[in-house]
Amino acid sequence: MRAAPSTVDLLLVPLHRWVWADVGRRARKLLRFAETEADGARDLSRAAELTRDPSLRSLYLRHADDEQRHAVLFRRRGRELFDSSRGSVFEANWLAPGERGLDDLDVGSESDESLLAFLHLSEKAAAGRFVVYEKVLDCDPQTRAVFARILKDEEYHMTYTRKQLARLAPRRSGLRLWQARVGRLWKAYLRVASALAAMLGTVMLALQYFVVLPLFALFAKRAARREPEGYARSRIGLKLENQY
Ligand SMILES: [Fe+2]
Ligand SMILES: [Fe+2]
Repeated sequence: MRAAPSTVDLLLVPLHRWVWADVGRRARKLLRFAETEADGARDLSRAAELTRDPSLRSLYLRHADDEQRHAVLFRRRGRELFDSSRGSVFEANWLAPGERGLDDLDVGSESDESLLAFLHLSEKAAAGRFVVYEKVLDCDPQTRAVFARILKDEEYHMTYTRKQLARLAPRRSGLRLWQARVGRLWKAYLRVASALAAMLGTVMLALQYFVVLPLFALFAKRAARREPEGYARSRIGLKLENQY
């Protein structure tokens, strides 16, 4: 199976080009990708431990090995670029997320079928994105070569997961893929919702700090101006029998 970018990723090619143009941002993104790939390798090793299917076990182990190698490749290139750049930059991870790993999937609670369906969709999405990244990285042939090399493995991952799903669930593979799609959509919604909540939280705090607090400070100043200066007499007729 050949990887193909999604329509959204194709429409966003100019934005992807902008995201990858900055050397510092490129370095940070590659280091983040390395973390995700290593995380995916750990999850796949766990999946290999849990499955009762011997051929799936060897495929998962090979897959884990591939993801670990991708982590090394991304980390190495990220460090090379990091050394030649300085300062912190906006990474735009929501726009160019790379391979999402297993999206914090609880491997232990998945069946072989649902895990294969989820893996197939994840690998397909990642492979499609890597095609776009490779396309927009004409300014950096070395990073482009890293993506080209990894893309071959991602295509293999998306192919074997599809074939294995068809072997294990010849009649239900379409249903399993749809279920996995719904799960991914839900996770995408949660990612967008939490990003939006974080942004709204920042806006609300900024408004409180720069608009609400200065207003209170102004009222406090005006109230302070109305207070008589110096010694003030105590209220007349105050009885000292109780505290009120
Ligand atoms: Fe990978
Ligand atoms: Fe992969």
